[in-house]
Amino acid sequence: MDPNASGLLRRLTEAGQSHLIRFWDKLSPEQRDSLNQELQGIDFQEINVFFKRAMESSVSSSKNEKMDARMEPVAQDVLGSVTRDRGSVKRWEEKGLECISQGKVAVLLLAGGQGTRLGVSYPKGMYDVGLPSHKTLFQIQAERILKLQRLSEEKHKKKSNVPWYIMTSGRTMESTKDFFSRLNYFGLDKSSVIFFQQGMLPAMDYDSKIILESTCKVSMAPDGNGGLYRALGNQGILDDMQRRGVEYIHVYCVDNILVKVADPAFLGFCLEKDADCGAKVVEKNNPTEAVGVVCKADGHYQVVEYSEITLATAEKRSADGRLMFNAANMCNHFFSFAFLKDIVEKYEPKLQHHVAQKKIPFVDDQGQLVSPDKPNGIKMEKFVFDIFQFAKTFVVYEVLREDEFSPLKNADRQDGKDTPTTARHALMSLHHRWVLNAGGHFIDENGTRVPAIPRDGAADPVTDDGIRNLKDGTDLPIKCEISPLVSYGGEGLEALVKGRDFHPTLIIDESGVHELVKNGV
Ligand code: UD1
Repeated sequence: MDPNASGLLRRLTEAGQSHLIRFWDKLSPEQRDSLNQELQGIDFQEINVFFKRAMESSVSSSKNEKMDARMEPVAQDVLGSVTRDRGSVKRWEEKGLECISQGKVAVLLLAGGQGTRLGVSYPKGMYDVGLPSHKTLFQIQAERILKLQRLSEEKHKKKSNVPWYIMTSGRTMESTKDFFSRLNYFGLDKSSVIFFQQGMLPAMDYDSKIILESTCKVSMAPDGNGGLYRALGNQGILDDMQRRGVEYIHVYCVDNILVKVADPAFLGFCLEKDADCGAKVVEKNNPTEAVGVVCKADGHYQVVEYSEITLATAEKRSADGRLMFNAANMCNHFFSFAFLKDIVEKYEPKLQHHVAQKKIPFVDDQGQLVSPDKPNGIKMEKFVFDIFQFAKTFVVYEVLREDEFSPLKNADRQDGKDTPTTARHALMSLHHRWVLNAGGHFIDENGTRVPAIPRDGAADPVTDDGIRNLKDGTDLPIKCEISPLVSYGGEGLEALVKGRDFHPTLIIDESGVHELVKNGV
């Protein structure tokens, strides 16, 4: 094959990217074939436009003063809270469950990230944080969907189905599909688990040249979780949703072990407010926590990343002592189908890529791989929340961190944040509280009852990681795990635990209640 004859050389030259085939003469026929295939799939003119626009907007936003002066906290009238609006939660839950029973709800998992910080070579959803059951994040989420379908069926006496759309990237698609297939879709109906692939974009140096990661391979990366919107259109997912009659979509990120997939209360709240777009948040309780905050700026709701504001603004407090900008984004969103359709058809092309400066390995003129020690180029990404600005009715739903948010971002290390250990502890600590709330108790190895933890958390502070510091000074939770197939959100446990004393490790699953130590397991 000849790049000249195929027109490839002309396309590359016109786009200023002909360096991509500078090793052509040294490549084997197979290598030429693979490089040719990869290059044929790239629209170089489009990439050049993306680069130009992304760099321009990155330069102009860095010239602007910080966001601070333009930010306003979330207005009370768009805010719902599981604590302040406690009396409404049951009503919202029922509304959400009814909508699920009518087949109008789908969930969409963002799982195209590369898990770089966690340091694993496989998709993050396949990670086992070391729970007694050794369930992976994917399995926990799948079982929550199954349980929700059952709850909805019991209440509304008709079969219920929540389609699960899973967005992967070029790097995670095959292993994700393979994992689901090997584990029989965790009991879900195979035809309701729909995989689709987000786009990839080449990494570029500061002179707008696409970077090669080997003599015959372009350095490619997923186009950010906002790549969702383009993929929804070009992978036929919107059409699939329409065919199934989906009207509301819960979108969430893969790494939060406590995620309430298709949370009926969140759905019901958004429905009651007639929202087209909603964000679930937890209270940011530490000004330097590395999360984006939902706020209003220039008249529109958006997420402002922590790096975009000064410490003085991050530390500002309201009269009640809470941080003024405290709506921490959990990457957990509600969209109406009509809104998503509008986004895909009208607004997506207008969204600009964000620029992430990175150290990107590249091949030098001798074809040797070089790993730079400082940033040498950019990756371009869109973000899932970039579309909040287009919502007509945007709402924010605040939940408790210790009940709903413990993301897995980093590998384990001493005192690490958002690690497998903190995720495991957060889940077990939540399940411990479920048992206490349902009237069960725990006893230690001396047969003494472990003191109950008050439900409102007033007496025992909860750390950022959702781990309750027990009064005896330890922050290790009682080992307790409840299968999502038994309880979605703490419901239905009284018959199993009320008035009973348990030795940890306690496992409650569909086969019954098990105490591992007591039984000598
Ligand atoms: C994200 C949020 C941040 C929030 C934090 C909470 C975005 C852009 N940022 O940050 O505001 O405070 O979660 O945990 O949403 N993903 C893809 N494709 C990609 C890149 C990522 O599907 O190209 C997925 C990941 O698999 C993951 C999710 O998007 O499920 C979030 O990505 P991640 O990189 O972990 O975002 P954070 O920087 O932690």
